[in-house]
Amino acid sequence: MTIEAVAVLDFGSQYAQLIVRRVREARLYCELVPWDAPHGRVGGLNPRAFILSGGPASVYDEGAPTLPHYVLVSGLPVLGICYGMQLLAHALGGRVVPAGEREYGPAELSVLAISSPLFANLPFSMQVWMSHGDRVEELPPGFVALASTANSPIAAMGDEARKLYGLQFHPEVVHTPRGGEIIRNFLYNVCGLKGTWTPRSFVEEAVARIREQVGEGRVICALSGGVDSTVTATLVRRAVGDRLTCIFVDHGLLRHGEAERNLERFHRLGLNVVFVDARKRFRERLRGVIDPEEKRCIIGEEFVRVFEEEAAKPWHGMLGHFDFLAQGTLYPDVIESAATASGAARIKTHHNVAGLPAEMRFKLIEPLRYLFKDEVRQVGLELGLPEEVVCRQPFPGPALAIRIVGEVTEEKLEMLRAADAIVTEEIEAAGLARRVWQYFAVLTPARSVGVMGDGRTYETTIAIRAVTSRDGMTADWARLPHDLLARISNRVVNEVPGVNRVVYDITSKPPATIEWE
Ligand code: XMP
Repeated sequence: MTIEAVAVLDFGSQYAQLIVRRVREARLYCELVPWDAPHGRVGGLNPRAFILSGGPASVYDEGAPTLPHYVLVSGLPVLGICYGMQLLAHALGGRVVPAGEREYGPAELSVLAISSPLFANLPFSMQVWMSHGDRVEELPPGFVALASTANSPIAAMGDEARKLYGLQFHPEVVHTPRGGEIIRNFLYNVCGLKGTWTPRSFVEEAVARIREQVGEGRVICALSGGVDSTVTATLVRRAVGDRLTCIFVDHGLLRHGEAERNLERFHRLGLNVVFVDARKRFRERLRGVIDPEEKRCIIGEEFVRVFEEEAAKPWHGMLGHFDFLAQGTLYPDVIESAATASGAARIKTHHNVAGLPAEMRFKLIEPLRYLFKDEVRQVGLELGLPEEVVCRQPFPGPALAIRIVGEVTEEKLEMLRAADAIVTEEIEAAGLARRVWQYFAVLTPARSVGVMGDGRTYETTIAIRAVTSRDGMTADWARLPHDLLARISNRVVNEVPGVNRVVYDITSKPPATIEWE
C-alpha cells in the first residue's frame, strides 16, 4: 500500500510536534523534518504536501532559516504557519514587515474568502491563537488575503491555483479550537488526500517491513512488561513467528508482584520469553549510590550486560545467534535525541534502559519509531492486546530505583512496594485509573516525628504523586478527591511499617518533573 505522507518542516517552533499530531489525527502519516535536512531525507518520505512550521526567527535576520529550494520546485501543496507563512511570502515576492509589537494570545479571525477550500464548513468568524513578531504586509503575486484579524489584515493568504497557503495564527494549538479542521481542510480539500493511515494499515505495513528486513534472520527483544516493548514484540512475532526470542530481566526494582504478573501475561500472549533473575547483581551495583543519574547509568549499563550475556547463550538447543534487536523506541525519544544533538538541555537521561548502545552487533528493528504513545496504544488494541496492557501507565526503566530518593536498599524497596500497592489499589477502586496519567508512591529521604499509640516515632515520609498529562512532556497534579487521599494516607501509615507520614505532591511539570529523580 502507498502511504499518504506529509512532511512538516521544522523551523524551530515550540508547537512543531503538535502540527504532526494534528496531521496524524487526520489519519495521514507525517514526520517532522528539520528545515535544513538533506533533500534525500525528505524525498525518502515521498510527501504529498509540505507544512512549514513557525519559528522564532525573522526572515530578515542574518542566518535565519530559509525555505528549502525543493519545496516550491516540487509543485506540491504547501501550508506555511506563522514563520512558515512569512517565508513563503518572502520567497515569492511579497513583503514581510516587523509588527509594531509582538502579537501574542487570542484573536478573532474573520474569514474573507468564504469559498476557499481551506475554510470549508467553518464559521465566518472564529477564535485563533496568535504568536508572532513579523507579519505579511504585501501579498506575493497570485495570492489573495483569505482572512484577517484586528491586528493582522493578512492573517491567512492563499494562491489557490498553485495550492500555496499561509496562516499567521497557529491552527495546531488547542487555543485555536477549529484549527484541526483548518488543517484537515488543507489535507483533504486542497491536497486531495484521503486519510488512509489507520492502526490497521500501520500494522499491515509494519509487519511487511519487518518481514522484509529480517528475511530468514532471528530477532531478540527485551521485554519490560510496558506497552511499548509488548507492542513491539507482538508486531515482530506476527512478522517472524518463532524466530523472535524475548528476554525479561528482573532487576529487583519492580513493583509488588510485577515480575510474576508480567511473565504470566507474556505467556498468555504466546511470546517466547527467557526469564533472567538478575536481582542480586543489580542490588550489588546500586549499593551506596545516591545520585539519580548515576543510578540510571548503572541500571542501563548492567541491563545491557545481562542482555548481552543472555543473547550469547545457547538456548533450547539452538545456538544463541541473533541478527536483529527489536526495540520499542517512540517518536518523542527520536525527536528529543535530535533536539539534544542540536544543543537543547537534557534534563534526565530517559529511556536508557531499553535504549541499548548503538555499537552492539545487532541490527535494529524499531517499528514504533515514528509513533506517539497514544498511537502505540491504538496499534496494541489493533493487535488484540488486552486493555490491561494497552492502557498501562508509563513506568520508567530504572523503576523503583528512581522513586527512592537516595540509596536503594532492600528495606526501602519493601516499604515503597507496600505503599505503592496501596496507592494503586485505592486509585483503581475509585475508578480513576484511566483518568490519571501516572500515580505512584515515592519514598522520600525525609524523616519526621510522629505519635503512634502512646509513643513517639521518628520515621519515613511517603509522597504520593498522581498527575494528569497528554504525553508526559508537561503534566499537572491530579485533583484526587480528598476522601481518596485520606484513605490512602490512612492505609499507608497503618499498613506499612516504618512510615509515619504521607504527603501529596502538588507540583506541576514544569517546574517539577513527574518522577522525583
Ligand atoms: P519526568 O520525570 O522527566 O518523566 O517528568 C517523564 C516521563 O518519563 C518517565 N521517565 C523515564 N522513563 N527511563 C524511562 O524509561 C527513565 O529514566 C525515566 N525517567 C522518567 C516518567 O515515568 C514519565 O512517564
